[in-house]
Amino acid sequence: MKKYLITSALPYANGPLHIGHIAGVYLPADIYTRYRKLKGDYVIHVCGTDEHGVAITIKADREGKSPREIVDFYHKNVKESFDGLNICFDNFSRTSLPLHHKVSQEFFLRIYEKGYIYRKEIEQLYCANCNRFLPDRYVEGTCPFCGYDRARGDQCEQCGRWLEPKELINPFCTICGHRPIVKTSFHYYFKLKDFEKPLYDWLSSKAYWKENVLNQALSWVRDGLEDRAITRDLPWGVPVPLEEAAGKVLYVWFDAPIGYISSTIEWANKVGKPDEWKNFWLDPDTKIIHFIGKDNIVFHTLIWPAMLMAHGEYTLPDNVPANEFLNLMGSKLSTSRNWAIWIPDLLSKYPSDYIRYGLSHVIPETKDSDFSFEEFKTRINSELVNNLGNFVNRTLTFIKNYIGLVRHNLVGFRDQDLEIISEIENFPQQVGNHLENFEFRKALKEIMAFSQKGNQYFDYEKPWSTRKVDKEKTERTLYLCASMVKALSIIIEPYLPDSARRIRNMLGFSDQELKWEDAGKWTFDRDMELSKIEVLYKKLDESSNERVMILDENKREERAMDYVSYEEFMKMDIRIGEIVAVEEIPGTDKLYKLEVDLGDHIATLVAGIKSAYSKEELLHRKVPVLVNLEPRVLRGVTSNGMILACDVNGKPVLLSPDSNVPPGSKVK
Ligand code: MF3
Ligand code: ZN
Repeated sequence: MKKYLITSALPYANGPLHIGHIAGVYLPADIYTRYRKLKGDYVIHVCGTDEHGVAITIKADREGKSPREIVDFYHKNVKESFDGLNICFDNFSRTSLPLHHKVSQEFFLRIYEKGYIYRKEIEQLYCANCNRFLPDRYVEGTCPFCGYDRARGDQCEQCGRWLEPKELINPFCTICGHRPIVKTSFHYYFKLKDFEKPLYDWLSSKAYWKENVLNQALSWVRDGLEDRAITRDLPWGVPVPLEEAAGKVLYVWFDAPIGYISSTIEWANKVGKPDEWKNFWLDPDTKIIHFIGKDNIVFHTLIWPAMLMAHGEYTLPDNVPANEFLNLMGSKLSTSRNWAIWIPDLLSKYPSDYIRYGLSHVIPETKDSDFSFEEFKTRINSELVNNLGNFVNRTLTFIKNYIGLVRHNLVGFRDQDLEIISEIENFPQQVGNHLENFEFRKALKEIMAFSQKGNQYFDYEKPWSTRKVDKEKTERTLYLCASMVKALSIIIEPYLPDSARRIRNMLGFSDQELKWEDAGKWTFDRDMELSKIEVLYKKLDESSNERVMILDENKREERAMDYVSYEEFMKMDIRIGEIVAVEEIPGTDKLYKLEVDLGDHIATLVAGIKSAYSKEELLHRKVPVLVNLEPRVLRGVTSNGMILACDVNGKPVLLSPDSNVPPGSKVK
């Protein structure tokens, strides 16, 4: 029996998950794990939240919370998203647990004692304004390699290089924006350079890796590796286990991958076999597979393997099937720019299998891919509803209504049935081959093509008319359709676990009874009594405007965004008006009554800008006005439109045209 340890990159506990995380890492890992389990391999999938490092402390600083509050909140939040999506882990841990601290410290000490870690006095960036050292992400600046001007102090998002803050050109403090100064401190360095040759040799044996991953790793080694600081001056993290290092913690990228080991140990404890983790980590035959996104390639193909080599006891990864990035409607997903679709929101609107299905089609396997709601809905409607759902439903309903059950000892299959039979027999292998190569999109296409063949066969055999003239033929047709439905109920399980279970139950199978290879057995070995048939999928309304919930990164506040159609937008008549008179309105210190020249007429408006602007500042200013707003009476004055201004923390800031435009000019 083959043994697999599957890991998914530990997500930072500093924000909710979005579609990019799921399509890029966790869904492929879950599909792969489910496949391996169905094949009968010995496999566990471990993960957990990454709860240290500046990703967490920066978030906490911004929100005026403690790192502990942040990680507790998001550990739960992230876990709920995984549960909602049926992404299953044998263990989902946290790097802030004492067990993980202990395992990380032991790891550090072991390679320290083996001489792979040394202490070095260094010059470090220090913000004199904030009075603190600035570890990695507390500094941004221009990348010395590619020139990207928002490179972070730990890594450049554009070229993917691992950086140190001091290397940045024009650095600035991300807390206050000041240019940092250089001060001395000391840190612990990992002798990465010593592993250049071993890494090169090891990578050279990985010709079966995905090309993008292998090429990137090899090119970094060829460029030469440098020793790297693996400690930080931060109050949050795994304390460096040396007396002389009080106040210093391990760099988050040092402790996080060790989380794969501590999560496995935690799993072993939970299943009551405390030594079982060794069966994975100490056995060179275990296939350890790290699912990650491309921004994590350097850590999983170089640093982490080098750490493992330095440690000397643990098994190295067998494969690192990193994915590229998922874009959203043509633009890069970005948490800081608020451009993302968040999983908690999707889960409140769609069943888990719909989301899994939509995202499986855009797994960025070989290049960046794109998600759009239009494509998502079209796929659900034309593929899940019209193809898969339809085939399952018509087959089972027909059997239930006209045949009663699937008789196991049916005979008399004809030549024309052989083609379908061989389709069924080859199906598991065909899909399995793709899955073993991490070709999740191709595998899913095969599955849907198989279901389509089922529909075509059903149409071709016309059981609705043969049932009146040739009962036996009809029964054979439905037997094979049922056999295809059974096959689908197994093979779709990695992608659509809920649907798979429902179909199996409708057919009369129990949950655990079928294995991957059973999908290729076209005969039934007992009579199948169908249970209640339910419709698998419901059509989505393709015309409705999609509401994308956007979670504000800084305020952690949910905001709904409604799309406005072009027509709706064009209905708004916005024009430049010149303020020609300003009057007070008795009894209010917020509102002014304004007369605004709109070219062809003068309109009376009531505007809440008194707290910010004096009469003199307003007179003869040109401002955009929404002219065809429904009139409203405010303090006894009828307002016929609205001045458009920025709202900066509740304070109005007026807008003005860039050049001298005549009153009445249209804004669009
Ligand atoms: N938290 C990291 C990220 O989101 C991934 C850590 S992966 C591990 O980019 F290997 F370090 F665990
Ligand atoms: Zn500063």
